[in-house]
Amino acid sequence: MEQKYQPIGIFDSGYGGLTILKSIREQMPQYDFIYLGDNARTPYGTRSFDVVYEYTLQGVSTLFSMGCNLVILACNTASAKALRTIQQKDLPGFDSCRRVLGVIRPSVEQLPKYTKTGHIGVLGTTGTVLSESYPLEIAKIMGNHLVVTQEACPMWVPLVENDEMSNPAADYFVRKNIENLLTKDPQIDTIILGCTHYPLLRSTIDKFLPQHVKLLEQGPIVAESLVDYLVRHPVMDQVCSRGGSIRFLTTESTENFEPRATLFLGAALTAEKIQL
Ligand code: DGL
Repeated sequence: MEQKYQPIGIFDSGYGGLTILKSIREQMPQYDFIYLGDNARTPYGTRSFDVVYEYTLQGVSTLFSMGCNLVILACNTASAKALRTIQQKDLPGFDSCRRVLGVIRPSVEQLPKYTKTGHIGVLGTTGTVLSESYPLEIAKIMGNHLVVTQEACPMWVPLVENDEMSNPAADYFVRKNIENLLTKDPQIDTIILGCTHYPLLRSTIDKFLPQHVKLLEQGPIVAESLVDYLVRHPVMDQVCSRGGSIRFLTTESTENFEPRATLFLGAALTAEKIQL
């Protein structure tokens, strides 16, 4: 019998979530996916809690209405500012099989594998940093064993979204934020790249990051955690269809989205414009 189209939804404020989708696809090529980038309203990182929540809920509801039972917020800012409220307040109003997962918890769970000094750095948007989601989640899972220091990098997402990753300005801001973080706590040996846009600045980051510091990118971590989630939740796994397709949706013009998204994903794609 042919399976109903029930893709996994991947939501981000713009292009950043493509770094997560790319890793997920590598691990789960047989599943169907819908990627939704709210490029018209990016960045989310400097917006208030209420606005990020409102925009994220619109994205999630749209993905649910298109047949997704499971939506991944492939965005730290949305995970930090909207996930809990959506899970607690909004999900009960949808079909009981719907779930929304974020990227913060899986990233935090990896930390004990890497840190020796117990000193952790978090690089994120202003919104993610101010929400204190990383320090709170780390304390929740690991108690007070780890020392967490954060640095907001408000210029990094605009550099990515505006295709200025090779501009000397990117070097300037990346270097400045890394130096700020390591000056605040020189014992940091593990840094979470706490924004899904940041892997696109990886080669610049590598220029300024001391070699002894381990950088955790979220794509492979979230992909592995999703595979594990579906093994532990077979009922959800059964309602995720396997046609190997990806549909790309953007709130910006497709002419803007397609060439850059193709670059980030490493594969040609065609997108559709939607309004949330
Ligand atoms: N990619 C997003 C994140 O992980 C959001 C960036 C933004 O829109 O500011 O935080």
